Amino acid sequence: MNERFGPIDFDEFHRVDLPARLASGNGALARVDLDGVRPLAFQLDDGRAYTYSPTDDGVSITPGHSTARTIVELSYEDWCEFVWELRSCFALFYADRVKIPLGSFGHLARWEPALRAAYDGQQIYELADPLPVLGPGGKRLDLERTFTLDDSDDDMCDFLRRAGYIHLRGVFAADEIAELSEQIDAAIALARPDDGRSWWTSVEGKDVCNRVNYLNDDCPNVAALDHDERLQRIGALGGPELRTCSDRLDGNGVVIKVPGAESGLADLPWHRDCGMGGHPVKCPMLNIGIQLDAATRQSGQLQIIAGSHRGTSRLPTPLETEKLPVVAITTEPGDVTAHFGHTMHAAPPPSSKKAKGRRALYVSYVPPLTFEMMGPRQGYNDVLFTRDAGHVHHIDEF
Ligand SMILES: [Fe+2]
Repeated sequence: MNERFGPIDFDEFHRVDLPARLASGNGALARVDLDGVRPLAFQLDDGRAYTYSPTDDGVSITPGHSTARTIVELSYEDWCEFVWELRSCFALFYADRVKIPLGSFGHLARWEPALRAAYDGQQIYELADPLPVLGPGGKRLDLERTFTLDDSDDDMCDFLRRAGYIHLRGVFAADEIAELSEQIDAAIALARPDDGRSWWTSVEGKDVCNRVNYLNDDCPNVAALDHDERLQRIGALGGPELRTCSDRLDGNGVVIKVPGAESGLADLPWHRDCGMGGHPVKCPMLNIGIQLDAATRQSGQLQIIAGSHRGTSRLPTPLETEKLPVVAITTEPGDVTAHFGHTMHAAPPPSSKKAKGRRALYVSYVPPLTFEMMGPRQGYNDVLFTRDAGHVHHIDEF
């Protein structure tokens, strides 16, 4: 464990450290997202508790929980990991490590962006009034722009830093995609719900696989991508310190859009790839998607909220989404997308049960701290397997 993520004194933190952080600017940052939000208390197993309440210009902290409308009860160790953002509220929920004796879990999720601002000074990406995504010279950035490997690194890097994603056309040749596809389809056929690395949904009551991680174990062409100079170049657009991590987190995995999926997380709602925790460890992780099939509205394409990597936020409601800069990425096989894990994105279902679906192979580039904090075969998303093996559930299914 890196010493940056050591134990925190629960009382001193709430009586001294946190009030100082709130007074020096974090309170104002947090207040941006607390209109109409009611007090929340954290209570440890031993009964000690503190209540967080929105004020006119920030957040106040008071001992006890008598004024709280939601009480979050958890162990001291889990509370420390929550404050460090090694576990998010959703990770605590999936692992069944949080009790809510008063109020609702949804109220904790509602508070989480403000808590990140309060604890670490993270900016909040304002869903009601998003920052415009500007290009050089202050003009609006052309969010539909695509690139090829003939473009300069400076141009691609600039776009990625501003938009939070990039789409490169024609990175892999047709014969490379055909070979990758063949090996990946063979590995998908061998996946089983209890193998600890695949995700499953159901179609007309039958189990159907919608994701397989660590394909680099089975597919020589996937393993060889660790040394692919094209991917290394794209990975470095996210930062020169980033390295591929095929032996940890989720390895190199395929995401499969399944038409007619009836359960689980086959159709990913809005999320960040650091949403289960580990944002200070693995971001600015860059997730590179090698498109094995065409991604279109019919096949269930990737959607991205441009510029949303510049802050933390709640998940947007459908009404909020209408006003956000949502970009749907249409690709051909052999194209590559790359997005920062912190950029909000989703993959809605294919347009009908008869649509074709699609597959994308993901390769992640992460900073050195990830290798210090996470051993081989460990990942922040492992918690998703806690409750029902590979039948990874949508949170609304509990
Ligand atoms: Fe994602």
